Amino acid sequence: MSMLVGIIGAGPAGLLLGRLLHLAGIDAVVFESRGREHVEQRQRAGILEQATVDTLRRAGAADRLEREGLPHDGIDLVFDGSAHRVDFFDTTGSRVWIYAQTEVVKDLIALRIADDLPLLFDTPVSGVSDVDGRPVVHHGDRTLACDYVVGCDGFHGVARSLVPGTGFERSFPHSWLGIMAEAPPMHHELVYAHSPRGFALASMRSPSVSRMYLQVPNGTDPTHWPDDRIWAELTARFGDHRPNPGPITAKSVLPMRAWVSPTLRHGNLFLAGDAGHIVPPTGAKGLNLAAADVTLLAAAFTHLHDTGSLALLDAYSDTSLRRVWRAEQFSHFMTTTLHVAPDQTDFDTHLQLARLRQITTSRAAATSFAEEYTGIAAG
Ligand code: APR
Ligand code: PHB
Repeated sequence: MSMLVGIIGAGPAGLLLGRLLHLAGIDAVVFESRGREHVEQRQRAGILEQATVDTLRRAGAADRLEREGLPHDGIDLVFDGSAHRVDFFDTTGSRVWIYAQTEVVKDLIALRIADDLPLLFDTPVSGVSDVDGRPVVHHGDRTLACDYVVGCDGFHGVARSLVPGTGFERSFPHSWLGIMAEAPPMHHELVYAHSPRGFALASMRSPSVSRMYLQVPNGTDPTHWPDDRIWAELTARFGDHRPNPGPITAKSVLPMRAWVSPTLRHGNLFLAGDAGHIVPPTGAKGLNLAAADVTLLAAAFTHLHDTGSLALLDAYSDTSLRRVWRAEQFSHFMTTTLHVAPDQTDFDTHLQLARLRQITTSRAAATSFAEEYTGIAAG
């Protein structure tokens, strides 16, 4: 059967869905409000779970990832001033990859353009009508009637507002000050630090570029954080590890919020990625949830296209939301275990330290942690 899917948004969710549908012989049009340059330069997440890498490989979109991605078999957790390693590969046989979201986006855009498939930049979608029948995408003064529409337009897009219900929300009393630095990473794996001064994270984008974060109060102005202050604070929070200072090329403050839509479907409109749910960044789940959503959706559309059965499409919202809530749980646990809350008591701190000691001394606890961090298979 022939089928046209309208995809709103050319982030990782929209672009990967377009790619997977193309491989299944299903037509799609991708609408993106911003220009190609903006989309390709936006700095976002950087950790790919095993299942996300597997999907990119199946999509034929992993050539550069294989060459430039950095596989990581574990992380360090710093607490009480000392570093403790958690080994993912040894406990679960899974690992994660460092490969920036912006590079995934560039690779998928290049493939879509090489295949000469519709990808409309500078084309904001203003709404979708007739969601109970053949949904119509409205852009500028034009419209496109589709069989299905998927909102992959992120947390600030239009699609999630078209789904009834306000959803479930949690805010957090802290933000992250994030920096990019022309400096070799502090350590060959990621380091998550619990410190009385607040959380810190040392990540990377390549062997010569560091990505680092500091917990700061909500409402922090990054101009109050000159480079020297940032390096001094990072050094104070990382215990045994010593950051390598270098030129800071970007500085920004990221608020933290969790939100989950009550459903990922309204008639023939579906939500995927940040349009359907957001997590605080501590568990590195946002990009991976987006990839998992579209893996499921592509399989559901393919099943419909090949067999005429709506079974997988009808199951999509419930199936996806089960994984989303599991990732929300992990992200919430990481956030509340590693950060210092403004009203934190010594009792709370002792509980955090007990949990961190459990993860780094009990193989069963380490295995469970590694399983959540590296992600569960789609489905
Ligand atoms: N019309 C068309 N495009 C839109 C509209 C609109 N009305 N509104 C937003 N967009 C575009 C945005 O410009 C962006 O390119 O939708 C895209 C959404 O992409 P992302 O925000 O990257 O969301 P998603 O693809 O779900 O990826 C989730 O992104 O924010 C990170 O941490 C998050 O890593 C996760 C990932
Ligand atoms: C990142 O590299 O941006 C990053 C890594 C791990 C996280 C969050 C963000 O938990």
